[in-house]
Amino acid sequence: MRVLFVCLGNICRSPLAEVIANHEAERMGVAARFHFASAGTGNWHVGGGADPRSAQTAQTHGLDLSTHTAQQITAPTIGDWQWFIAMDADNHTQLLAMGVPANRLWMMRQFEPNTTTPPDVPDPYYGGADGFDHMYQLLGDNAARVIGQLLKQAA
Ligand code: 4NP
Repeated sequence: MRVLFVCLGNICRSPLAEVIANHEAERMGVAARFHFASAGTGNWHVGGGADPRSAQTAQTHGLDLSTHTAQQITAPTIGDWQWFIAMDADNHTQLLAMGVPANRLWMMRQFEPNTTTPPDVPDPYYGGADGFDHMYQLLGDNAARVIGQLLKQAA
C-alpha cells in the first residue's frame, strides 16, 4: 500500500509521521506491506531538508530524518498514492480541492478514541520546543491506529 502523509511544508509534521509509521510497521511485522512517504501542499521548502527541530525530535527517539528531502503533492502525482493522511483540516481541504478522492483521504487523528471530528496535529513551525514534543506524542499515539485501519482496508 502506497501511503502519503501530508502537511503544509513537508519539513515538520509529515516527515516525522513517515519515519514513525515506518518504525511502527516494522514493530508490527507488516513493513513489507507498506510504502510510506510524505509531502507538503506548499512548495516553499521543496528540495530542502527537514526542519532541524523535527530532525532533533526524531533523533531523540532513535529515528532519522537526516536524508529527508521535502516534496510537494500536486494534482498530476495524486495517482502515485493509494492513501493520503492529512495532518490538519487545512491540509485535508487542500487535498480534496486538488482532486484527492475523499474515500482515500484520512486525518492523522481520525481513529483517536473519543473524537467525532478528528482534531489537527497542530503545526509546530512557529512555536516553541514543546510543540515538537507534543507533535511527536500525537504522531506516536496514532501511527499504529492508522496502520491497523489501513490493513483492515486491504483485507
Ligand atoms: P509542516 O510545518 O507543515 O509541519 O512542515 C510548516 C513548515 C513550514 C511552514 C509552515 C508549516 N512555512 O510556512 O514555511
